[in-house]
Amino acid sequence: MDVQLSDIAIKFHNQISPVREIMNYADPNTLEAIGVEPKDFISFGGGWVNHKAPKGYQNAYLEIINNDQKFHYAGGYSPTPGERYCKEAIIAFESEIYGMKDLQPEEILIGQSSTQLTFFLFKILLNKNDKIMMLDPSYCNYPLQNNIFKPAELIEFPVIDSDFNYIANEPETIKNVVEFIDKEKPKVVLLVSPDNPTGGVLSDEFVNSVYEEVSKYGGVVVMDFAYKSLNFCDTPKYFSKKPDGNFITIHSNSKWGRNLGRRLGWLEAPEYIIKAFETFQSATMLCPDRMHQMAFTDYVNNSIKNGELKKYIEETKKIYKETSEVTINAIQEFINLPLIKPMGGIYIVVKVFENSAKFVQKVLKNTGVLFIPGWGFGSTLTQSVRISYGPLIDNHKLIIEGMKRVGDFLKNGN
Ligand SMILES: Cc1ncc(COP(=O)(O)O)c(C=O)c1O
Repeated sequence: MDVQLSDIAIKFHNQISPVREIMNYADPNTLEAIGVEPKDFISFGGGWVNHKAPKGYQNAYLEIINNDQKFHYAGGYSPTPGERYCKEAIIAFESEIYGMKDLQPEEILIGQSSTQLTFFLFKILLNKNDKIMMLDPSYCNYPLQNNIFKPAELIEFPVIDSDFNYIANEPETIKNVVEFIDKEKPKVVLLVSPDNPTGGVLSDEFVNSVYEEVSKYGGVVVMDFAYKSLNFCDTPKYFSKKPDGNFITIHSNSKWGRNLGRRLGWLEAPEYIIKAFETFQSATMLCPDRMHQMAFTDYVNNSIKNGELKKYIEETKKIYKETSEVTINAIQEFINLPLIKPMGGIYIVVKVFENSAKFVQKVLKNTGVLFIPGWGFGSTLTQSVRISYGPLIDNHKLIIEGMKRVGDFLKNGN
């Protein structure tokens, strides 16, 4: 008799997960089953960036690999909360790019990724009877992360109105969100800026108002900064805000330097929260990857010295902003459905006025073009799709071709 799965594994296996659905579309077997030829496939599904990592970053790895002593050292365990030299490089990075002042090594914890750090943070902050608040829509992995083991109650606050406008930064919305928090008292308010999937960047007014409200009763703003460097508008002041007992930030090494597969992330939080993390990390992963910490440190320190880091981040931002404009223009020219113009990040949401899952299936089957159904991001997007331009920064022609194909198909009354 074969061993049985635990109840929780069965529960999650049987649940439809938006993340699993997105990942499935990348599988050639899925495409074959739908009848799409891989050569005709155009994907706007990938939640990843595609610019080149800095040459100096690549050289930092080479330097480790080619040096016997460094390579041997890289093969040793890192301290559980991360290497002090890497924390100092993070402090230098935050100061160079965002002018952050006074961040201390004790306020930083290095982990495997922002995904892993978010999961642990939920478990460290939330009891079963607490509430966690997210905006609707929000990154589709969060509800799932909350649901694994002792979920807190999830409450959502909509930031897209019935005319498909992104309204988070409107004075009326800010007033309403403060009232909502005052009534519900969520322990954690999880915000993403720039956002996945809306591309929204929250204003200082929004973030400060939420922060002031949660500070009154011992709640906390948790800011996911995975796309922080891909911000197309004026840099908000909270991008350089130090952590405190009501403000925690989660950072990813994935997107700014195209290190998605070289897994590394960090948390900026008050020292008592960092200390609480140590047991979770040591029990589940022992320590973060040392080689990635070494390469990050070398690149950041050298590229600050020679001025390359600032230049690289500015140039990267330009690439994504330009690609977002190409995508917006192609959607407007060929598809002509309402969209939300991104203020940063790698995504655009488009309203399709029908069930998003059915729309995506229909479009994929008939055009070979993949969008991501909006339902997994929240009820405001049940009739919308997410279009990712991140993977196509070097292929604007394909963006235009994809939108034209979909536009032609929809024009023919489908
Ligand atoms: C909002 C958001 N946070 C976090 C992540 C994951 O980041 P990491 O690679 O650090 O796990 C993603 C990935 O797409 C994301 O969209």
